[in-house]
Order: sequence, then C-alpha cells, then structure tokens
Amino acid sequence: MAIEPTEKIWLDGRLIPWDQANVHLSVHALHYGSSVFEGIRAYDVKGTPSIFCLTDHIRRLFDSCKVYRMDVGYTAAAIEQACLDTVRANELASAYVRPLVFRGSGTIGVDPRPCPVHVGVMTISMGRYLGPEAIEQGVDVCVSSWGRMAHNTFPANAKIGGQYINSQLIKMEALENGYEEGIAMDSNGFVSEGSGENIFLIRDNVILTPPLASSILRGITRQCVMTLAGDLGYTVKEEFIPREMLYVADELFFTGTAAEVTPIRSVDRIQVGAGRRGPITEALQTAFFDIVSGDAPDRHGWLTSVV
Ligand SMILES: Cc1ncc(COP(=O)(O)O)c(C=O)c1O
Repeated sequence: MAIEPTEKIWLDGRLIPWDQANVHLSVHALHYGSSVFEGIRAYDVKGTPSIFCLTDHIRRLFDSCKVYRMDVGYTAAAIEQACLDTVRANELASAYVRPLVFRGSGTIGVDPRPCPVHVGVMTISMGRYLGPEAIEQGVDVCVSSWGRMAHNTFPANAKIGGQYINSQLIKMEALENGYEEGIAMDSNGFVSEGSGENIFLIRDNVILTPPLASSILRGITRQCVMTLAGDLGYTVKEEFIPREMLYVADELFFTGTAAEVTPIRSVDRIQVGAGRRGPITEALQTAFFDIVSGDAPDRHGWLTSVV
C-alpha cells in the first residue's frame, strides 16, 4: 500500500508542505523505535469527511505516551484539532490519519529522555487494507511462528513504534508463505491477534475474543464491534482461546482501523466454517459500514465531522 503524498503535514504545531516534513539521521526514534502512534480513519459521510472515534484514538495515543514516559507537550484537544485541520487542509473526502509522537535528536544513548519530543500528523488516502475483495470474500491466514510479546517484555497494549518489529515479522512471514495475514499466539500459547488486527471467533452463535491479558492491543474497532454485537443481541465473551478453536470456528474475522471488519476464510489452509463470510460477520460488517457511510444514524457518537 504505497503512500501517495498529500499537500500538508502538521508538524510541531504548524501545517507545512509534505516535502518539508523531514527528520535528521540522528533522531532517536529512527535508531531505537522511540515513537508512539495512532491509525485513524476519516470516512466520507455523505460528502463530509468525518473522523472515526477521534477522541478514543487520541486518548490511546496519550495513554501509550504515558506508559512510555513521553510528554506530548500538547493537550489532547490540540492533537484532535491537528487531525481535523490536516484532513481539511488536504481536502480529502476520506483519509487514513497518522498522528506520530517521536523522540528527536539529542543523544546516541538508549535513554530517550534527553531527546526532544516531536509531534506530527500525516493524512493519506487508504483503500481496503487486506485487498479489495477481502471484505466480501475473506482472507487466508496462518498461525505465525512468531509469538506476541510477553507482558514483562513490551507493553502490548500501548502503540509504541519499536514494538511493531513484532508485527513486521508476523506479516512478512505470512506474505512470504502465501497468506494475507498471520495470527500470533500469546506467550502462554493462546490466540492473541493479527499483525495489525484484533480477532473474533464465533461458535454456536457465541462471539469470543481474546482478553487484554493475551497481549493484544485494545483495539478501538474491537470495542465498537463489541458494542454493535450488543445492539444485535449478541454477547461477546473475552476469553483465552486455544489455537485449535481457530480451526473449528463457525466464523472468524479481524477488526482494525485499517482492516475494518474482515472475514477470515481459512487458517493454515483449513477452511473456516463454509469457507466464506458467515452471517454474523456479515451482520456486524453491515452495522459498521452503515454507520461510517452515513446510511445509519451515528447513534454511538463515533464520528467527528471535519467542518
Ligand atoms: C497490533 C494491533 N492490534 C490491533 C489493532 C486494531 O486496533 P484499532 O481497531 O484500534 O485500529 C491494531 C491497529 O492499530 C494493531 O496495530
């Protein structure tokens, strides 16, 4: 998914031309992964770009920075405004919004604290993350030989740049072996998540998803899908999920800002359910896409218009 440059990037309080948003080779984040980020979508809601769950994403950005002892230097409201301003400045009908907080130049040592904190917001166009047909046809995935990090190694629930080496290993292995995505297990061998998605499993009309203790990122789409499942009369149980449940599930799907709600049709070449999008997955997708397209009212207050 190549990046198409847009006009402007918000960097340290100012909207500047895309080409000028550069950093020096000495920045700490480049060497040691000392950055925190978010991925947010802005949807075209009947002609008005509207950012999905903006406040929740910026709250998670600040939470990740807190865990990582990083002072953002701006209020959450100011960063929300920066996201809105950047989408507006680039005149995008829909967008992927990437706030990034990172440690700049100051030391070659591992301790990031002497380095200044910079904040940027980039907005780009983004289509379907796992391919154009994935939403209807589903994706073929594998169980990764890479596990998610144990709790006493990295804080999986914070979105810190360096941790995405783990996701990159999972993703590269899956793609090299002919799968669209990999599912990692947690350090106890239970199902955790995809390289950039949370996972849901359905068996006998019961919806299950791994708990935070399975080294997942507390996904915002995950939370929204749990709410929508409740609206449709389903309960979602957060439970430790053994690997073999993936093979005998009636339905499986990923959730994520980029992946939205994507069905999984096989795991390790074993067909999931009927090998295509299942009825509960489809009902949840419809409920989700109806809201973000403006076909259904925004009854949970998830959209912020870029006016
Ligand atoms: C590792 C990981 N898990 C899950 C998710 C899904 O989270 P969200 O729905 O907030 O995008 C993401 C995406 O940000 C991710 O990177």
